[in-house]
Amino acid sequence: GKYILYKGLLVPRETHSAESLKYAEEFKTRDDDVFAVTYPKSGTTWMQEILPLVLSGGDLSSVQSQPNWDRVPWLEETRAALVLDGRPAPRAMVTHLPLPLMPASFFKAKPKVIYVTRNPKDVVVSSFHFHQMASFLDDPGTFDEFLDKFLAGEVLFGKWTDHVKSWRSPEVQDRILYITYEEMLEDLRGAVLKFSHFLGKELSEETLTHIAEQCSFSSMKQNTMSNYSLVPKEFMDTSKSHFLRKGVAGDWKNYFSPEQETRFLAVYREEMKGVDFKSSWDEN
Ligand code: A3P
Repeated sequence: GKYILYKGLLVPRETHSAESLKYAEEFKTRDDDVFAVTYPKSGTTWMQEILPLVLSGGDLSSVQSQPNWDRVPWLEETRAALVLDGRPAPRAMVTHLPLPLMPASFFKAKPKVIYVTRNPKDVVVSSFHFHQMASFLDDPGTFDEFLDKFLAGEVLFGKWTDHVKSWRSPEVQDRILYITYEEMLEDLRGAVLKFSHFLGKELSEETLTHIAEQCSFSSMKQNTMSNYSLVPKEFMDTSKSHFLRKGVAGDWKNYFSPEQETRFLAVYREEMKGVDFKSSWDEN
């Protein structure tokens, strides 16, 4: 098949290997490392654009000379060792791992973490399109079939609710900043300011504006180092969908039937019961 089962999690064989997963498990976290953590399709690529700009004080070459996956690699993917080992501090990386699968060193070193959450209904829709265009992922079937798989957690990196709940653990509260995709859409400049404070990187008003412009959906869509256009068509078929597809909140309304929404909410409410979690989207 196209996936590897790693400690109960499905990961794509194309981008992950036994070695890369071992690298992630044995990774030596440093205090000054910076992690952006996401469930897939929640704003990972966006963070790969924002972090190098914030950390470099707005240096555009940081996002124009390297593709996003080499600029800020996924801890668990095959490129990580290559990119992270020789890199000067602060090293920025992204990961889709739920908290219990983070390396042991992560819990000792206490690096800073930005956790991005996105409305799970929009995550399903984004993921559905991604599965249609990416040849290294299973065919999603119909939207209805894919929704059932998503709710059952039979998708890459498991259940959305498990992921989100794991990262609310008291264990990481002293060093994590929570933000939502929707907040970033609403006020990107404000989000960049929050990140800069959190990471201890003061930025001028001008630099903040400049970073927010560079990280807008339209700028990123034009940046060949960020829009995945360097990936050959046999891996990502842009005649089916684009990686930077719509970049909006609420697209789920164009896909969910009322019955599907009811089905979704029944599972969501049950699994999020008692969890101290306030969404920035309308959960009525
Ligand atoms: P859509 O498919 O809804 O458009 P990830 O990077 O975690 O895989 O998430 C991909 C999603 O983030 C896609 O959502 C993509 O368009 C969106 N995205 C990436 N950069 C963005 C930006 N600058 N502004 C808004 N959305 C962005």
